[in-house]
Parts: sequence; structure tokens; C-alpha cells
Amino acid sequence: MTNRVAEILNIEKPIIQAPLLWLTDAKLVSAVSNAGGLGVLGFNSGQRAVTRSLDTTIERMRSEINKVQAQTDNPFGLNLQGIKDNFFEPTLKLMIDEKVPVAAIAGDLDADCIKAIKDAGITVVYRPLNPSVEITKKAVEAGVDIIVATGFDEGGTVPEKVVGTLAIIPMIVDAAGSVPVMAAGGIVDKRTAKAVFSLGAEGLYVGTAFLLSDESRMADNIKELAIKSDADDLVFYRTQPAYYRSLPGELPNKLVEMSNNGASRSEIASASNGGDGMRLGMLEGDLSQGYASFGLGISQISKIESVSTIMDKLYAGVPVEN
Ligand SMILES: Cc1cc2nc3c(=O)[nH]c(=O)nc-3n(C[C@H](O)[C@H](O)[C@H](O)COP(=O)(O)O)c2cc1C
Repeated sequence: MTNRVAEILNIEKPIIQAPLLWLTDAKLVSAVSNAGGLGVLGFNSGQRAVTRSLDTTIERMRSEINKVQAQTDNPFGLNLQGIKDNFFEPTLKLMIDEKVPVAAIAGDLDADCIKAIKDAGITVVYRPLNPSVEITKKAVEAGVDIIVATGFDEGGTVPEKVVGTLAIIPMIVDAAGSVPVMAAGGIVDKRTAKAVFSLGAEGLYVGTAFLLSDESRMADNIKELAIKSDADDLVFYRTQPAYYRSLPGELPNKLVEMSNNGASRSEIASASNGGDGMRLGMLEGDLSQGYASFGLGISQISKIESVSTIMDKLYAGVPVEN
């Protein structure tokens, strides 16, 4: 099989396990990379508590990278902010020191950052949080290797514009010209994989399906609840920077009420314990203090399976010639 995404990433199957903050660790990432995809370590991967120290953050990440390297010889990636904040230079240096081959960037686009990463010989996968023709053209100009088109069906921070996966992929594929596009949002199995390839995507960028794997460190009670849930069971609320979906529960239900009653985005974000709400909900399994975010593909997931089984199901939808 020839596939440009697999070639660029130097992997067998054009499938990326999307960065998922706390929910990633060396075990999940190495399982995906060993199954022929690309695992990606997210922020706070492998951790259970926050640290405000930059040095500690970098050293914790180095240790998780080294654990991945002990468990696989295959390529893997690291989630990196594509803007010049305090973390950018130290994280880039860490990637260079530890020879991490791929940077998965989400959010704003800074052409100088892209250049610095590319100059270091690192492959750039760029996922705008709010995909558009304009940002895609800018990303192509900045020299990214792969662009991810994310539909509103995704889990995590949902795009500001309500454009579903079916509509966003051909739009971004047309704008990206010769740069290959991976699809994100609602892809969990053969059928959904086939659908996005037929729209012009050349790879799969998958979060929710890997959260519901044996190897994922998500709390067992949340896994159990999620496999029993369908897309229409998820509750939906405004927050910063855009929207979130969650399994219902004490805190998520309160956030929906605030959202419906016109509370501001910052009020809702602070009521959801900011970034800690995901750790409390998904890692600790406490929906009285946190939330649990999933994409709309959860309807098709009814059991917890191994990463290798999930990879087989996704890969079954990847055309042999594309
Ligand atoms: C719990 C959760 C946390 C996420 N955290 C991040 C993140 O830290 N960085 C990022 O780029 N994307 C993050 N995402 C979005 C994923 O990278 C990806 O776009 C999304 O999961 C794809 O949609 P799917 O969940 O329907 O497969 C997160 C998604 C989920 C469900």
C-alpha cells in the first residue's frame, strides 16, 4: 500500500492516536505505535497531579518519553503548542535531545515556530482548533507536513464553528492543495474510516476510540459509562475557548444549566475547575467535580478492547490504494 501520511510519518498505518492530555501515557502511546500507528504523548501525560514548575514539567515529560522508547522502537509524537510561550523552546529542545520525530500541534499557528520545528528535522502535524480555508492556506505556506481537519463531531475542545466532519473534510482537502489531510471527529471503526477516506482524507486522527481501550488510563467507571452511552446521551455546554460535550453528571449538568442561563464563558470555565475538570472527571472518575468529554462516535463503541483490535477495525476502513 502506498499512503502519503504513513510515508511522511514513517509508520505502517496512517492512524494517529490524538493527544489527550492526562489520558495519555507511555503504555497507550507505545501500544498504538507498536500496532503500526503513531501514538502521541499529550500535556501532563502519565501524571496525576499538576505542577507549576517549568523544569519539573519538562523532566516529567522526558521520563514519559524514555518509557515510550523502552517499549517501542517505532516513531511516536509529542503534543506541542505552536506558539512562542514559556514552554515552546524547552519542549522543542527536549524533542531534539530525545529524538522525538513528530510534533502534533493544535491551536494557533505561528510560522516562526513551525520553521523552528522543521529546522530541527521534526515532522509537523498541524490541527487548527477552528479549521478554515484561510488557516489551512496559512499552514501550507508555513510548511506543515500534514493538516488535520476536525469536525464538530470530535471530543475535547469542540470547534467554535458548528461544521460537522462530513462537511469540513472536503473543504479542507480542497484548500490544502498538495498537503495531505487527516480527518478528526467521530472516527471509531471501519465504516467511519471509510467515510472520511472517501471524502479525501488520507489518514485518521482518533481520540475517543483510544480512550475506550484496555491500555487507556481513564477511570474504569467512566469507561463503563461511556460504552453504555450514545452520542445523544452527551450533554453540551459553552465554555472557553468554545464548547464541550460530556457524559451527564452532577458537575456537567450544572455547567449545561449555567450555559443555558447565559453565564459567561469564563464563569463556566472556572465552574468546571478549568483544565483540572478533565483530570478529575476522566482520570479520577468523579463527575461531581469534573467532566468526561467524548466524540459523537461513542454510539458505535460498546466494549473496551485492546489498542491492537481498535487499530485493526480502523485500518479495515483504510483503502488499499489511495
Ligand atoms: C478527553 C480529550 C482530551 C483532548 N485533549 C487534547 C489536547 O490536549 N490537545 C489536542 O490537540 N487535542 C485534544 N483533544 C482532541 C483530539 O486531539 C482529537 O481532535 C479528537 O479526540 C478527535 O475526535 P474523536 O474524539 O471523535 O476521535 C482531546 C480530546 C478528548 C476527547
